[in-house]
Amino acid sequence: MGPVQMLFLFVLPFVCFKVFFLVVVPTCFFVAPCFPDISAAIRTHLSNLGPIKKTKKLCKSSQSPLSSWFSTASPSTFEFEEEDSGEDEKEHVYKLGREAFASSERQLTGQQKIETAQVKEAGVQTDSSLPTVQKSLKKSVTEPVLFEEEASLLEEVVAGNLPIHAIEKNATDFETAVRVRRKAFDKQLHANFSVASTTNSFFDGLPYQDFDYKRVYGTCCELVVGYVPIPVGFAGPVKVNDENVFFPMATTEGCLVASTNRGCKAIMESQGCLSYVVSDGMTRAPCIRFPCAGMAVECKIWLEQEDTFELLSEQFNSTSRYGRLQSVKVAIAGRNLYLRFKCLSGDAMGMNMVSKGTEKALEVIKAHFSEMEVVSLSGNYCSDKKPSAVNWIEGRGKTVVAEAVISGDVVEKVLKTNVASMVDCNIQKNLVGSIMAGSLGGFNAHAANIVAAIFIATGQDAAQVVESSHCITLLEPANNGRDLRISVTLPCVEVGTVGGGTVLPAQSSCLRAMGIDPQNSPAPGQNSRKLATLIGASVLAGELSLLAALTAGHLVKAHMQYNRSVSNLNLYDLQRPRSASQGLPPKFPPPSCTPTHD
Ligand SMILES: *[C@@H]1O[C@H](CO)[C@@H](O)[C@H](O)[C@H]1NC(C)=O
Ligand SMILES: *[C@@H]1O[C@H](CO)[C@@H](O)[C@H](O)[C@H]1NC(C)=O
Ligand SMILES: *[C@@H]1O[C@H](CO)[C@@H](O)[C@H](O)[C@H]1NC(C)=O
Ligand SMILES: *[C@@H]1O[C@H](CO)[C@@H](O)[C@H](O)[C@H]1NC(C)=O
Repeated sequence: MGPVQMLFLFVLPFVCFKVFFLVVVPTCFFVAPCFPDISAAIRTHLSNLGPIKKTKKLCKSSQSPLSSWFSTASPSTFEFEEEDSGEDEKEHVYKLGREAFASSERQLTGQQKIETAQVKEAGVQTDSSLPTVQKSLKKSVTEPVLFEEEASLLEEVVAGNLPIHAIEKNATDFETAVRVRRKAFDKQLHANFSVASTTNSFFDGLPYQDFDYKRVYGTCCELVVGYVPIPVGFAGPVKVNDENVFFPMATTEGCLVASTNRGCKAIMESQGCLSYVVSDGMTRAPCIRFPCAGMAVECKIWLEQEDTFELLSEQFNSTSRYGRLQSVKVAIAGRNLYLRFKCLSGDAMGMNMVSKGTEKALEVIKAHFSEMEVVSLSGNYCSDKKPSAVNWIEGRGKTVVAEAVISGDVVEKVLKTNVASMVDCNIQKNLVGSIMAGSLGGFNAHAANIVAAIFIATGQDAAQVVESSHCITLLEPANNGRDLRISVTLPCVEVGTVGGGTVLPAQSSCLRAMGIDPQNSPAPGQNSRKLATLIGASVLAGELSLLAALTAGHLVKAHMQYNRSVSNLNLYDLQRPRSASQGLPPKFPPPSCTPTHD
């Protein structure tokens, strides 16, 4: 175990533990009594909340004027409001709705409060352990509290009058729709599985409140029941192209952020890194088919003429403000053609844009070859979300190269290893090892780790990590072996800073934390290309750190063996092949590593 692993396994948890008991606990202890009003209000309220049967009545009697106005307004009132008002007013109506429901929810629902009330009623001490509480309750909460609107929506869904995917259409606000859907699905789940929670809901641990569903609805996700919180770590700073940046990483893999951070430190202390986008263009490759191979050949020849490109690109470029056709690569298989359209897409990742342009270009081809049949707008020669040689060779999205020279001092002090070992490890592992594995684009230690974490944090399409993490990592000694030159080359970084998940507040916040303002791109494509260069730099940091850890681990082992008196025997133990004569020392002498002469 290296010192870094030791740090994260033992020292940090210990420190956190101390901080919790010495700082957090006393703080809560002393600060909480300073707000007697709040706890008193909650206590009073809880004692007013009778058993569950009564809650519906309570719902009505304790409504604030705002929430009562809101719950008497029918869905049609809202539709009227929406039609007649501009975007701002519509937003205002939704906001009122959300506030009203949030405040009434705070007052009345909240499964825990109801349970607490029930626990009180049953005469159980509130500080009893959970199993005790459950036992004394002797009943589970089966029907969560519902407002009238929710109750009627749920009724409609359960009765099959309102499709479960369309609750948003009839609910007054998005969160209500999500709440109703959770309850509807809960009912279905109860039919098949047993729930292991106190509140009798399968969605107990899945939060849904305080989320801007307006930005999700119709864009990012359907049949929404909540969201999964993923911790976001922040690695850096690291100097990339003369700018100090940080990397937001959404991950649940321990040590990943810490390791990347160490790589950043090593780069930072060696004058930073440079990262370049050398090619930019999203691709889409439809499959078209002709009655015979001869016609396919004829079409291929036509498509490869310059005039044809002009013709196609004119139509293609007309379909959007930023989509600009760059090339069409034609592959043939019998009477099938696969046309790999490649286009610039501004700051968008570009899949929709290139698909739209491609559709238009196909019309032009059809006009010249009436026998042509479009088998599929995507013919997998694109190649989206699947490992493929065409992406590895031709690139897709942004092709990024990032490089740094790490000084020998830093390799020793920060990375705890040496230049020669790292170079060797990279060759044997990332190059030879990946060749032995028959890898496609996997000539790296863990590029996908960093790419995935930043993709999720910044709202990229997570499935595109497949090709976006294709990467070759190269290490060489520099300055007569004193320093280390490291580069990563990623041919298919598929990213955007507008559209997709980037529109969500958390994700766009992460983009801003990387120095990218999604709302203001200096020029079309500049933001998304910057994001690609930063991802290249982050992969550089990640590769550096993991390779060093592997090398250092190897060094520790080597040292231990070296220090043992019977080093030969121990080395021999390691190299001994597994033999059928279990445990018995083989009879042949230890192999000699002395080179023989030719
Ligand atoms: C949903 O709303 C539409 C339009 O307001 C209405 O016609 C329909 O009856 C409602 N459906 C249900 C199940 O409430
Ligand atoms: C799940 O529950 C439904 C009833 O809602 C039932 O029709 C179905 O057979 C159940 N499936 C299993 C695997 O138990
Ligand atoms: C479409 O845009 C591409 C890329 O900018 C350009 O090369 C091509 O000439 C344009 N086509 C036309 C007809 O303007
Ligand atoms: C290993 O041997 C070296 C050289 O003899 C010595 O300096 C070092 O302290 C030893 N390390 C351990 C862990 O015994």
